[in-house]
Amino acid sequence: MSNPSLLILPGDGIGPEVMSEVRKIIDWYGAKRGLTFDVTEDLVGGCAYDAHGTPLTDETMEKAQNVDAVLLGAVGGPKYDNLDFSVKPERGLLRLRKEMDLYANLRPAQCFDALADFSSLKADVVGGLDIMIIRELTSGVYFGEPRGIHKEGNERVGVNTQRYTESEIARVARSAFELARRRNNKVCSMEKANVMESGVLWRQVVTEVHAAEYADVELSHMYADAGAMQLTRWPKQFDVIVTDNLFGDLLSDLAAMLTGSLGMLPSASLGAPMANGRPKALYEPVHGSAPDIAGQGKANPIACILSFAMALRYSFDQGDEATRLEKAVETVLADGLRTADLMGPEGGAPVSTTQMGDAIVSALDASL
Ligand code: IPM
Ligand code: MG
Repeated sequence: MSNPSLLILPGDGIGPEVMSEVRKIIDWYGAKRGLTFDVTEDLVGGCAYDAHGTPLTDETMEKAQNVDAVLLGAVGGPKYDNLDFSVKPERGLLRLRKEMDLYANLRPAQCFDALADFSSLKADVVGGLDIMIIRELTSGVYFGEPRGIHKEGNERVGVNTQRYTESEIARVARSAFELARRRNNKVCSMEKANVMESGVLWRQVVTEVHAAEYADVELSHMYADAGAMQLTRWPKQFDVIVTDNLFGDLLSDLAAMLTGSLGMLPSASLGAPMANGRPKALYEPVHGSAPDIAGQGKANPIACILSFAMALRYSFDQGDEATRLEKAVETVLADGLRTADLMGPEGGAPVSTTQMGDAIVSALDASL
């Protein structure tokens, strides 16, 4: 059998730095666990625009469609702020999500014990937190038509459209229920059915799918604003949260911060199964390109490394190896290693991006 294939798209800002550390982990699995991947690397985002005048070439899109999994760093930067919308770095990422039809975005928010004091919330509120946000990723206001800025009389009008079909809601609801069954069997669905028709439909369809196929899972509904409040008040009441594209964008950043740092959180974006049974998949950290610290060795590579752990689990059926990698991360945190984003106000000496990556490789060695 041929090796599983990976397309690596480091992207912009801190993307390349954190991805270099992931490459060390991938090499480790090849050398020490006989898990060898065929890796190709390519451009996405601002760097692709600089090289080709587009944030994602058709060739790269084609490669992404034909690998077992894509690993992405981050896209964007102030240099590209004034570009036309159609060629902004973010469009490269959005095109990947849309054309690969990666409708279920899994964003775990897990609080590592060693970092419980680092959250802006009290340690007993976040200690041991382990929730999963499932964000619909290929529809909603991110993609709905009509959209644009046009003139009406003397003034400009900006338009975006929130639009969901029944089948789009049903498939992401199924992903949430399936996942809940492998966790604590609880799903909370969030929308704004009090003000939006798309929210009314969302609630109806989730309720129908639940009754027909997943009655064993505990289901609740919340308005997304109340959900945001509950997430900060007592986040441990949740297991799986399922929500739309825009609310999911906001709520996952909020949930990420509960855990102490955006630099810790991975994500998986999954689509329908391919011919080989693996889901179409893209893995990326939740954090952005952090242009302010790019190139300084300050970035935390853990979110990107944990994204690779998710790839091991969800694309390559290597749940035990994923757990090994997650444990290695826990070990270095318990040993007190901190990148700059994990330093409290009292300061201290942070380790660099590469030091963090090397320490995780050593912890992997020690796990054998
Ligand atoms: C995310 C990011 C993206 C989004 C941007 C970079 C397009 O914020 O993945 O959460 O809004 O989806
Ligand atoms: Mg976001």
